[in-house]
Amino acid sequence: MDATLQSERPEDQLDALRQKLGPQAVLTGADIPVRNCNDWSASLPQTPRAVVRPVDAAGVSEAIAACRRAQLPFVPQGGLTGLCRGAAPEPGWVAISLERMVGIEEIDPASATMTVKAGTPLEVIQKAADDAGFFFPLDLGSRGSCAIGGNLSTNAGGNRVIRYGMTRELVLGLEVVLPDGTIITNLNKLLKNNAGYDLKHLFIGSEGTLGIITRVVLRLYPKPRSTMAALCALADYPAVLALLSAARSGLGPLLSAFEVMWPDYWEVITARAGVRTPVGAGHGLYVLVEAQGTDESIDAPRFQDWLEDLMDRGLLADAAVSQSLAQTQAFWTVRDICSEFGQVLGPHVSYDIGLAVARMDEFVRRCKAALAADIAGCESVYYGHIGDGNLHLVSWVSGLPVERQPKEQMDAIIYGLVRDMGGSVSAEHGIGTAKKQWLGYARSEPEIALMRTLKAALDPDHLLNPGKVI
Ligand code: FAD
Ligand code: LAC
Ligand code: ZN
Repeated sequence: MDATLQSERPEDQLDALRQKLGPQAVLTGADIPVRNCNDWSASLPQTPRAVVRPVDAAGVSEAIAACRRAQLPFVPQGGLTGLCRGAAPEPGWVAISLERMVGIEEIDPASATMTVKAGTPLEVIQKAADDAGFFFPLDLGSRGSCAIGGNLSTNAGGNRVIRYGMTRELVLGLEVVLPDGTIITNLNKLLKNNAGYDLKHLFIGSEGTLGIITRVVLRLYPKPRSTMAALCALADYPAVLALLSAARSGLGPLLSAFEVMWPDYWEVITARAGVRTPVGAGHGLYVLVEAQGTDESIDAPRFQDWLEDLMDRGLLADAAVSQSLAQTQAFWTVRDICSEFGQVLGPHVSYDIGLAVARMDEFVRRCKAALAADIAGCESVYYGHIGDGNLHLVSWVSGLPVERQPKEQMDAIIYGLVRDMGGSVSAEHGIGTAKKQWLGYARSEPEIALMRTLKAALDPDHLLNPGKVI
């Protein structure tokens, strides 16, 4: 007899699901992997009741049906690199992990699209695009571990937003399983498709609260034939703004990254993380500028001339231009090394605020001073995708374990300042539960009410990732 008909007890439902999807698909008890108990945020792990690992949308739908019969909350999980507890389970929940839904289904050169399973790691997608003579521009420090479904669900930003936009801009179609188990398959490849509401945008950036994405159609771009990079040192923030303006006008559509680092960041990565850099310490700010073009013989000298002109005009205190791909990668280490802050700094809290580009430095000065003044021993470092109006900071009190870091106090200072300066509490990482109480600092009451209306319409029983975002 079908166990699903016998009982709504969670154990029976999970057993029945195991019979349907196979023993590898439903893990319980001591078989639950540690990795599925938390994301990368500074928080303590929680063990779910079960980890379910379907291989397709039908399996996700079956898993949802079992959870619904037993009234078990369920949370979608991708690569678990999220930084705000969006994918973190609670005790008693079921984690629906996309980790076995991996692979490229199709590359369509004429449409310049790639259709992939949602659990595919970003780096695998980047490489597959490259092998096929294309370029997939989404790029984050977590590229080796994050999954494309997670990237969509967080509408991830990363290093090349200034040129190609956020993840939302890179998606043409998707397949999603709704909280009632309905599978919506819209693997659209058309660049133009105004037939009714563009529903994919409801799910992109919704942090796994409105549906579980199972397949994705991505936009591919022509492979850049030249990559130029420079690490620049500047005296002050007005010089950074002048450099950004010069990069926009001088490099035009070739400008692909504009990453800024404050001296406190530089000090940590050179003195504590041991990174060797081609420009020395003691400057007001540091900028990594990248441009991608189509012809090395034209683009590289043009980039060099552009930079020399800025040097001659006294805008740059120092600069190093990459002479090889290996050197460009070494320049990026300066920026990517922050993924090792866990080992370098110990427990810390990370932030991803949005702010007007013109006011970044004012924020940094006010925030650093307020944190140091109000929280004994609080240190902070600043960096980010400044060309996109996105500042990162990490703050910590040395020697304290993660659960004793004064996150509430830090949040109040940082988000208070963000609100005063008209910014956003999350530019790219999302809300999860880590920033939930601050959502009202960046969104109006009617906006949050509309979010709740959408959530209730799709998930009236509040079983899909309940309590996240709103
Ligand atoms: P997870 O952490 O597994 O999940 C994230 C959210 O999406 C959760 O709410 C989860 O429930 C939901 N979710 C996951 N998969 C699905 C699915 N298939 N369907 C529905 N919901 C789903 N982020 C940036 O934006 N820019 C950066 O530059 C950046 N750099 C990072 C660098 C490092 C070193 C680290 C650790 C993180 C960084 N992040 C960055 C944050 C993180 O990598 C991104 O948010 C990433 O998109 C999360 O993908 P994931 O697969 O790990 O998702
Ligand atoms: C970065 C992550 C923290 O940009 O978003 O490094
Ligand atoms: Zn970032």
